[in-house]
Amino acid sequence: MIMSTAGRLRVRTLLLLLGVVVLTTSCGWSLWDNPMTTVRPRSDFGRWIDEIFMLISWTTLVIFILVEGGLLYACWRFRDRPGAPIPKQIHGNTPLEISWTVAFAVVLLIIGIPTIRIVFRTQEAPAATALRVEVVGHQWWWEFRYPGLNVTTANEVHLPVGQTVAFQLNAPDVIHSFWIPALGGKRDVVPHRVNHLIMTPEVPGEYHGQCAEYCGTSHANMRFRAIVHSQGDFEQWVKAQQAAPAEPTDDLAKQGKDVFTKSTCVGCHAITGVSAGQIGPNLSHFASRKTFAGSLMASTSDNLVKWIENPSHMKPGALMPNLGMTGDESKAIAAYLLSLK
Ligand code: CUA
Repeated sequence: MIMSTAGRLRVRTLLLLLGVVVLTTSCGWSLWDNPMTTVRPRSDFGRWIDEIFMLISWTTLVIFILVEGGLLYACWRFRDRPGAPIPKQIHGNTPLEISWTVAFAVVLLIIGIPTIRIVFRTQEAPAATALRVEVVGHQWWWEFRYPGLNVTTANEVHLPVGQTVAFQLNAPDVIHSFWIPALGGKRDVVPHRVNHLIMTPEVPGEYHGQCAEYCGTSHANMRFRAIVHSQGDFEQWVKAQQAAPAEPTDDLAKQGKDVFTKSTCVGCHAITGVSAGQIGPNLSHFASRKTFAGSLMASTSDNLVKWIENPSHMKPGALMPNLGMTGDESKAIAAYLLSLK
């Protein structure tokens, strides 16, 4: 059987529609489940942004229906046929020009007013009960300091659910942008300036974060995790972080400590009671963190050995130097770091 041209066209249209449906539904599901999702807000800040997103979506849907409706009506009304009405030229019609200029100014106000309100609301002076966290954006990793608690960590920020957190953001090198999609929008992290971000996490969980401003070679590798705990779990985490790091017990880890203290590692990394370097991440409780190197790799012995022996191969542009460690030395250091619970 030979299909007519119209039949073939109909089949193609159906296939195209089917493709669009498959594509949009798959987009929808990955948006929902993705660890970087913005459409499942987990904080007050996230909810406010989601509300603006919905407001913009509905407003633009109404505009779309009005404009497309008018277009379709005009196409049908003035279609080419005997005795069709001639469309009237509206050039120079002052009331019309004014009304559609004002209409779009109103649309901008509908979007702009709540947006600006939230920008200011998330920078207000925090309440005395707020948890203060200093965020330092380095090329290419994140440092988190809790000044009231005397805790410093890297690449993982721990927060208690239901308590307002006041982030103070600054960068010693170049501009970065602090972004935890599930907890809300971005805020720039700028050298020579302290920016503020205030929010209250509402659901416990582990959320992915990412630097959202191009900051050099490993910008895309400048990731982190935000871990929102119950209040009790958070207090336990703080206690564990405040304690002195565990002394290594097995021989390889002991040997690793020895290598660490005798190498230039100590110039950059702090380990409470062992070294006081400030340039790289604080390693006092390295093994309490699931990932390292800008949250790029899981904290396993294999990854650590590869990292110590060739940092810039694992994270392009990494500022940690290759110290030419041998296999035995790097394995020992990895064992030591993994003993620092
Ligand atoms: Cu830091 Cu991009």
